[in-house]
Amino acid sequence: MKKTQTMAGRKRILLGVSGGVAAYKAAELVRLLVKAGIDVRVVMTEAATRFVGPATFQALSGQPVYTDLWDARIPDSMAHIELSRDRDLVVVAPASANFMARLANGLADDLLSTLCLARRCPLLLAPAMNVEMWENAATQDNVRRLASQDVGLLGPAAGDQACGETGRGRMLEPAQIFAAVSLRLGPKPLAGKKVLVTAGPTYEPIDTVRGLTNLSSGKMGYAVAQAAAEAGADVTLVSGATALEAPAGVTRVDVRTAREMREAVLPLARNSDIFIAVAAVADYRPAETHAHKLKRGAGSMTMELVPNPDILGEVAALKNGPFCVGFAAETENLQAYAQEKRRKKNIPLLAANLAQHAFGQESNSLILFDAKGEHELPLAPKLVVARQLLDHIAAMLPKRAR
Ligand code: CTP
Repeated sequence: MKKTQTMAGRKRILLGVSGGVAAYKAAELVRLLVKAGIDVRVVMTEAATRFVGPATFQALSGQPVYTDLWDARIPDSMAHIELSRDRDLVVVAPASANFMARLANGLADDLLSTLCLARRCPLLLAPAMNVEMWENAATQDNVRRLASQDVGLLGPAAGDQACGETGRGRMLEPAQIFAAVSLRLGPKPLAGKKVLVTAGPTYEPIDTVRGLTNLSSGKMGYAVAQAAAEAGADVTLVSGATALEAPAGVTRVDVRTAREMREAVLPLARNSDIFIAVAAVADYRPAETHAHKLKRGAGSMTMELVPNPDILGEVAALKNGPFCVGFAAETENLQAYAQEKRRKKNIPLLAANLAQHAFGQESNSLILFDAKGEHELPLAPKLVVARQLLDHIAAMLPKRAR
């Protein structure tokens, strides 16, 4: 196997080993990682040491192995903080049902669970357990909770188990885990790409103090901008009025009306690789904006509305334009309306949600519609969903050269 990292840019992972027969396979995983030039620090639970001795991991990783929250080798009893701070990734393989249950509930009662809770870097788990344990509703509940906490799961696979039963619950083979880890540590999927995002509501003035707007908080669009920046992109966020801070490293352009948003977006879009239209743009604006506050009159009042430009539609129609992603907030008939909208707008990807479940909320669930069909992103914090959306976009990109 070729060494992919130089010493200077050497990737660092913390491998957690929890209690299970598959712990012996973690030894092979350490060997593969070390051989590829990755710095591996191993932390074991007490139960794991009953299956494989720390000396095995110490010899394979060439580093001390840690098992104890109060390890005297780490100053100030801060092993749970110190051991993960210089790491790019934490991988727990095998992750037992008990370890996953503790993690899903935020328990921190040994070194490995505590450092997982205190980590700043991503966390991947390779579950390993008996098929009944895996299929148990409690475990499946924990799996969903972990997914909503942005913990990645590798496997498990189906097949013969150490207990003699057959089914899903086998840990992935070390080579498969190694491949997933290498992918995760590789170059960021959107490095070198320019991403343009719209977010928030537009405000269409009626007079100097009143206007038409909607309930969009901007949270989903800001999460998308942050996820794109995390994926290595150069991100510009064109935002309607929101109460939010721009994510770190993202350039924000503030606008108020749909027409201002269009003016900001079009020139930027010509120079972008990806355009993600998350903004809730008002489809209509008052035909006339009064230059002073309107006075109450007798009887009813009629206001003429004229259509606003369709910003996403215009960007999608650009020659050599960016890869376009639309959002659709429907209140009913989600599937039918969303596929129809994707075709009408002539865009490769549309993310749809039920408006009543998304506007102003902290969490969201999306259904992605592309030429291949549907792909569901289950309910999770908006940033978690946004990261999954960006992964989906990144996977679609190479098939469509600009
Ligand atoms: N959009 C836009 N410019 C507009 C209106 C919408 O760029 N003037 C974008 C939104 O940011 C979103 C998508 O288009 O990505 C929504 O499509 P649209 O058909 O306008 O959705 P709705 O406004 O929800 O349409 P309808 O009211 O017909 O359901």
